[in-house]
This record gives sequence, structure tokens and C-alpha cells, in this order.
Amino acid sequence: MPRHAYVTAVSQLYHGELATLAMCRHLKDRVSTLADREALEGQIADEQRHIDIYRDYLERVGDIAPPEPALQAALDGRYVWQGSPLGTIVAVHLLLEGEGLRVQNDYGHWFPCRLLKSIHGSISPDEARHISFGRRLVAREIGTLSQEERIAIYRWLEALWREGARASQADLPALIRVSMGRRWMDERWARHERVLIRTGLVSEDETRRAA
Ligand SMILES: [Fe+2]
Ligand SMILES: [Fe+2]
Repeated sequence: MPRHAYVTAVSQLYHGELATLAMCRHLKDRVSTLADREALEGQIADEQRHIDIYRDYLERVGDIAPPEPALQAALDGRYVWQGSPLGTIVAVHLLLEGEGLRVQNDYGHWFPCRLLKSIHGSISPDEARHISFGRRLVAREIGTLSQEERIAIYRWLEALWREGARASQADLPALIRVSMGRRWMDERWARHERVLIRTGLVSEDETRRAA
């Protein structure tokens, strides 16, 4: 695999960490309890550590490539839901971080770098903790939202994710792009959707009606 393609792929993990850090700073003053604020402060320290680890790794590999469109959107604040902060938490903790963990897993299969694998081994327990914090918070408070807002958040997330996935595919190395067709996208979104249903954002019936 050409070095440039590898750098482009791994750089996205770095930009994902930067986007998550920015969103946690945004959310910190918007959550309702002190315990949630403290959890976000802990997460901010984790994400900063992850950023440093990826930066060191990428510097060893040679360079940091620019963010792909989906992550540029997150860095531009497009993962901020204009209504309840719960919408933003779903976007960041469930969608962005959930996708991040899956990408780490994909890279583990695709790229035979032992150092990258060991980095992911050290980062993934943190990410799993962040995702579970987001899921618990959403499950606890989702009942405060109207059905209209829940469904609007669901629609927004699906559009955001699909648009990002499509735009980013165009930028990916051909080697990776070939394994990510329409079916890949539908299956991947279906997995996110199952998490959204389990967390209580929408019911299965509501996803069918929203479609
Ligand atoms: Fe992280
Ligand atoms: Fe995280």
C-alpha cells in the first residue's frame, strides 16, 4: 500500500479524536448533572491523550493528511444538534465514536502494523467507556424529548452519516473503497440504527415510518 494512502487512512482517526475533543468541550457546559460534567472532563483528558498518540504515530510514518469530508463536517460543528443537547450526545458518543471503534477494528484487519494494533488495544477500552457513558445518559434522559424531536434527531443522523460516508468514500484509497459499496453502507447504517433503537432514541416502528 502506498505510504500516502496509509497516512490518509490513519490520519482520519487522528481527526476523529480532534473532532470528539471539540464536541466534548462544547457539551461540557450543556449537560444537566455534575456527574455527567465530570465524566466529560475525564473524556476530554482521554481524547487529548489519544490525539497525542496518533500524532506521534503519524509523525513516525511521515505526515498527517487532511480530514475527509465526514470528519471535516464534525470539525466544523455540524454534529451539533440545534435542539436538546441529547441530540449532540447521540451524534458524538453513539455515532462518531461508535464509527471510530468500527474503523479501528477494520484497520486491524486491513493493516498489518503491530504498533497501530497495540495503540488501538490501549485506546479502545477508553472509547468503549465513552460510548457506554453516552448510551446511559441518552437512555436515562431520552424520555424528556418529544416524539417529534426524537424522530427529527434520527433523520438528521441518518442523513449526516450517509452523506459523510458517501463523500468520504470518494477520497479513500481505491483498495479500501472497493469494499465499501451500497450494501456495505446499508449494513453499516443498520448496525448504528440498532444501537439507536436499543438506546431508546427511536422504536423500530418509528424507523420504518421515518423511512
Ligand atoms: Fe478517543
Ligand atoms: Fe472517545
